[in-house]
Amino acid sequence: MKIKVGVIFGGTTVEHEVSIISAVQAMNHLNKEKYEIFPIYIAKDRTWYTGKMLMDIDMYRDFETLKRYAKKVVLYNKNGAFRLQSLGLFRTIIADLDIILPVVHGNNMEDGTIQGYLEMVGIPYVGSNVLGSSLGQDKVIMKQIFENLDLPVVPYFWFFDNEYYQDKNEIIKKCKKLGFPLIIKPATLGSSVGITYVKNDIDLEKAIEEAINYDIKIVAEKAVENLIEVNCSVLGNYQNQQASVLEEVMGTDEFLTYQDKYLGGKTKGTKGSKGMVSTNRIIPARLDERMTEKVKNYAKEAFKALNLSGVCRIDFLIDGKSNKIYINEPNTIPGSLSFYLWEATNKPYEQLLDEMITLAIKQYKVKHQKTYSFDTNILSNFSGTKGKLK
Ligand SMILES: Nc1ncnc2c1ncn2[C@@H]1O[C@H](COP(=O)(O)OP(=O)(O)O)[C@@H](O)[C@H]1O
Ligand SMILES: [Mg+2]
Repeated sequence: MKIKVGVIFGGTTVEHEVSIISAVQAMNHLNKEKYEIFPIYIAKDRTWYTGKMLMDIDMYRDFETLKRYAKKVVLYNKNGAFRLQSLGLFRTIIADLDIILPVVHGNNMEDGTIQGYLEMVGIPYVGSNVLGSSLGQDKVIMKQIFENLDLPVVPYFWFFDNEYYQDKNEIIKKCKKLGFPLIIKPATLGSSVGITYVKNDIDLEKAIEEAINYDIKIVAEKAVENLIEVNCSVLGNYQNQQASVLEEVMGTDEFLTYQDKYLGGKTKGTKGSKGMVSTNRIIPARLDERMTEKVKNYAKEAFKALNLSGVCRIDFLIDGKSNKIYINEPNTIPGSLSFYLWEATNKPYEQLLDEMITLAIKQYKVKHQKTYSFDTNILSNFSGTKGKLK
């Protein structure tokens, strides 16, 4: 019997479209002999849809057509079965699923939100758990964990938006203490949205206010100069980690913009985006063996520090003059699931997906061997709350 895989993607995130691209790629590479695929598309209005036609990228060009042909669904736990069921007048069981492959990017989805939902349903799912996913999305907390383990991060300073409005001068002073050039970022976004490279005083305030448009938590970082950006994908869990070959990514400006990452360089409005695959990249990165090994080891350590699982991509910033390496951030569900890095490591995409699913099933079994509840009901001897609450 085939394993029934629900592939969840889309959602209320700035990376909605990127997620569609990543998910369609993944669905097209899952081994159809082994898996039966159920696309589960979460539209921007939070409605869930299914239908085999959602495996075709062209379906997403016109939402009205999609709405007409795809079925509205819910996923819930029905007496231990993970039921995908249609909504509306004639409710039909689409399938009882075995596992979920979440291919979502960005906050409100990748950050533990979808994982939390799946935990509530009780269904096994591929990738990091709730906490790992949340840590991977918060550019401040992850740095605090890395620092604690002596893993290298850039000098930074962070604050909440209300602290800025209460005392602008103080916050600006603290940012400037890091020294220009600086990078101002919303702490929990992705895809370079709301990020500004600041070279002087004049632009600082504007940059902070731009970031505040997107997040309540803001981080100021010392910009790494002579910048070389390399990424390393890691596959595994807390027990074992494998590192992929490194990629070197090239921005067209001071940093990688949304345009660079997803629309393929300078040509604005490029159609038929290929997701992260189209970024200007060099594989393997042009680092010597010693530096490459160092980056791979840091990648594995960072992955373990946050207790990540499945396939992640850990991004690095390197000062090409001093050769100093900094961990920039993990992506717990990387664009295109980093398949191109694994292909370059002699692991075809189909095999990568297979290994991710196998890992998830193993992890689910381990988790369910642990004791999570007790048969005794502490409330059985409790005489009620009446009177006590008054
Ligand atoms: N401290 C830094 N120094 C130099 N460039 C940086 C720094 N932080 C970020 N960048 C640039 O900005 C890009 C986006 O920042 P990043 O922290 O990766 O945010 P996102 O989550 O949006 O990908 C990076 O890919 C890099 O090009
Ligand atoms: Mg990034």
